[in-house]
Amino acid sequence: MKVKKKAIVLTGGGDCPGLNAVIRGLYKSVKYDGEWELWGSIEAFNGLLSDPINIIKLDDEKTRGIHVKGGTILRTTNKGNPLDFPVKDKNGNWTTEDRSQELVDKILALGFEAVVNIGGDGSQTISQKLFEKGLPIIGVPKTIDNDLSATDVTFGFTTAVQIATDSFDKLVTTAESHRRIMIMEVMGRDAGWIALHTAIAGGAEICLIPEIPYDPDIILKSIEKRYDSGKGFVNIVIAEGAKEKGGEVIGKSAKDSGDANFKLGGVGMYLRHQLEKRQNFAQVRTTILGHTQRGGTPIAFDRILATSMGVKAFDMIKEKQFGKMVAYKNHRLTTVTLKEATSSYNYVDLNHYLVHTARKMGVSFGD
Ligand code: F6P
Repeated sequence: MKVKKKAIVLTGGGDCPGLNAVIRGLYKSVKYDGEWELWGSIEAFNGLLSDPINIIKLDDEKTRGIHVKGGTILRTTNKGNPLDFPVKDKNGNWTTEDRSQELVDKILALGFEAVVNIGGDGSQTISQKLFEKGLPIIGVPKTIDNDLSATDVTFGFTTAVQIATDSFDKLVTTAESHRRIMIMEVMGRDAGWIALHTAIAGGAEICLIPEIPYDPDIILKSIEKRYDSGKGFVNIVIAEGAKEKGGEVIGKSAKDSGDANFKLGGVGMYLRHQLEKRQNFAQVRTTILGHTQRGGTPIAFDRILATSMGVKAFDMIKEKQFGKMVAYKNHRLTTVTLKEATSSYNYVDLNHYLVHTARKMGVSFGD
């Protein structure tokens, strides 16, 4: 029997709906090609770096029906950066060390001829560094935040918007019953895409995003106007990365060694206190959606996008398009170099048609 070529796939960083659909799309493509076999590294690169090694050979049974399932069958971590890998020093204290060359050498020695890294901007920056060290690697973009500028949309984002909109709709009826001011905090890191889409889909009165610092007094004026007009309730969507004019983002540094991400969260509570201080005609409540936005079944659009990206990744392996990432541009799948993919961040452009739409719908950005 002819020896098959070997590829390995992994999922890194925060999970998001659609990861399993990529893995299944890639697996089926590999299977029908016949010349390759597909392996998976457990918990991003940790599976390859661990001793004993923790990798699995993917087969029909492991991948059957997984496109419907949230999360990732390969598990993930945000503490597995091989360039900044968490290790304990001789005194038992956590520190980090660069294990990237060891990783590249190990993957090549194991006979893998292609690596597919499904991850967001942090993961793809790692992909680029490993590519520079000689690893034949391809990136597949994922994130609920939609903050990668090289692709029009990432899978997981539309599902997160759907989850946020469903929750928002529920908060509208309770806001109306109690004549309250309801604040809903959504994820998105430094980009306001989830908040902006949810505000339009749900019909929010106020939408606060990182790209437009807000003034609490201006927010209060919009609220007063709405109460004065007889519509005695207000629904606000606030992105976790939103900040007051002249203020700072709210959150804290990660506690875990190897997790470089600043943990955003809490601005919805902060805004509640700001509004409570300024008025007493309405009660204020805050709901923080948190990780519910990353969980559960991907909606159809994300399953389709993710599956197509898995198939495209194998096309790229066959064409030896290493050092590149799959991208979705103008309703087509294309490729972009990892360098380009990680060189800029996808902030909400203040001239974007959705900002214009929101303003015309009477949504206040607190500016
Ligand atoms: O990048 C995805 C994301 O869900 C962000 O929206 C959020 O700020 C962050 O990850 C949360 O990270 P963690 O899973 O480490 O709490």
